[in-house]
Amino acid sequence: MTEQHTLFAKTPRIIAGNWKMHGTKASVQALCAGIAAGLRRDPAVMVFPSFLHLDKVQEMLGTHCRVGAQDISQFPDQGAFTGEVSGAMLRDMGMAAILVGHSERRHVLGESDQLIRLKLQRGWEAGLGVMLCVGETASERDLGATQERLRHQLRSALGQDKLKGPLAVAYEPVWAIGTGRSATTEQVALSLDWLREELAGLGHDPDLPVLYGGSVNMRNAEELLAIDTMDGLLVGGASLQAESFLEIVAQARR
Ligand code: PGA
Repeated sequence: MTEQHTLFAKTPRIIAGNWKMHGTKASVQALCAGIAAGLRRDPAVMVFPSFLHLDKVQEMLGTHCRVGAQDISQFPDQGAFTGEVSGAMLRDMGMAAILVGHSERRHVLGESDQLIRLKLQRGWEAGLGVMLCVGETASERDLGATQERLRHQLRSALGQDKLKGPLAVAYEPVWAIGTGRSATTEQVALSLDWLREELAGLGHDPDLPVLYGGSVNMRNAEELLAIDTMDGLLVGGASLQAESFLEIVAQARR
């Protein structure tokens, strides 16, 4: 089995929790304790806490699921880069994967396509799996430019790769993130088809895991999981409570 398959397998489906800039020492410990109590070892479950909490989360959940980081430095290894955290440091901390290209980093922190591509390469250089997030804004969707946007994001991140490593893609429409308005199953299924087509065109395995994210919760997970071409869910808000996160995992394992 290759690392691609062991890290990002299609079955069972991946359920990933993006904890964003949330949590105190106490609340993160409580969340980990809650998840640990209800989760049997499941390497297809992943959590992405803040850098600050990675060590504690790895200690508490590392034998239950995989732990990853929400970001990575564009610079390799180590050096005079105040505030940065390198892929080598993340690997040393036992991290399995990183998120790259999340809409908040693109649109709120202003990360360019070029920076996203560099971060993705740094992740692979360090031996980490990369979950690449892509998605259109509401106005791009209204203009009928969704497919074009997804194609551009994949091409700019993955085109002309010298290095390839473990990859999963998360389709996260910007308008669905944190809004309580998830994409419809038809919208998700169509975007996943476009993404696979583009991945194949770029020489990547079109069968690699493609996830959906954006306002996933306990109530809509079942319907989303019924999309049989979808390989998992990237969950934000609902991953901050052990009960809702575990319920989504349970639905994915039924
Ligand atoms: P949400 O976030 O589930 O809170 O919409 C998803 C994400 O940003 O990955």
